[in-house]
Amino acid sequence: MNDLKKIELHLHLEGAAPPAFIRGLASEKGVDLEPIFDARGNYAYRDFNDFLRVYEAATSVITTPEDYARLLREVLQNCAEQGAIYAELFVSPEFCGGGDLSAWRDFLAAMTETARQMSAQGIDSRAIVTPIRHFGPERARKSAICAAETGSADGTGWVTALGMGGAEAVGKPQDFAWSFDCAREAGLGLTCHAGEWGGPQSIRDALSLGVSRIGHGVRAVEDDGLVRDLAESGVVLEVCPGSNIALGIYPDWRAHPIARLADAGVKVTVSTDDPPFFHTTLNHEYERLADAFGWGEPEFAELNRTAADAAFCDTATRERLR
Ligand code: ADE
Ligand code: ZN
Repeated sequence: MNDLKKIELHLHLEGAAPPAFIRGLASEKGVDLEPIFDARGNYAYRDFNDFLRVYEAATSVITTPEDYARLLREVLQNCAEQGAIYAELFVSPEFCGGGDLSAWRDFLAAMTETARQMSAQGIDSRAIVTPIRHFGPERARKSAICAAETGSADGTGWVTALGMGGAEAVGKPQDFAWSFDCAREAGLGLTCHAGEWGGPQSIRDALSLGVSRIGHGVRAVEDDGLVRDLAESGVVLEVCPGSNIALGIYPDWRAHPIARLADAGVKVTVSTDDPPFFHTTLNHEYERLADAFGWGEPEFAELNRTAADAAFCDTATRERLR
């Protein structure tokens, strides 16, 4: 699988932090984070809400622009080792300076320089500014302003989109309409997590924000009408099967709806979400899809063409990804 060129469209920067990276930062800063790790040094959590708690605890030791730049370098190196040539990273100004625009500019400057260096080494990237749903609409507005002020409408800069993550059970996408409108008016791409913990209605609500992609979206499979609408509209799903299975949404790979959605004409892509938390890698995702559904080179090439077309980047970069 490693020789296949791959595209990651759905990867949370902090969620991609290897446990050793977080332990290293914790010890440098004298913070006791041992309770979030198990005896083998992996992240330990019980369920999705506990995952969010552990995620935020781990993130609490990534405090400076230099920390974020170091993390980005390590994460992009890991992507490249998986055969990825392009990755889009969810990055939240709420973690990078508490939503303050001038602090965000400092974090962004450090990360953009690292992204530039890594691009020269063969792994291109873009950032999706990420409001966190359970932090509420007010904090989301600050993130959206950071996105609008620092984003690039032509896709050539590093920040090119807005995409909400966090607890889908909290609030409604409509509560965040101002933030999505703000990013759209700035010419940015739009995506939103939905249809992971919420059912079809949650996906319909997210679609009403005007997104071109949905993070996860797999529970659309519960509503034939929605599956038809997705297929007709060409909205792209950022599917993360290993994440869904690790979090218990589906019991195993064969039960995962990605193949049913693809067969129904829905545009699907494959990403890893928070790979160390879910004990996955991009190659692992592809191998399990090959085992479960008999997918091979033609299906994987199609996934990556879809991802290239849906990527929040400029046309010249898109051409290189095809
Ligand atoms: N943030 C990081 N991983 C997430 C997930 N799987 N769903 C929602 N928000 C997230
Ligand atoms: Zn996600």
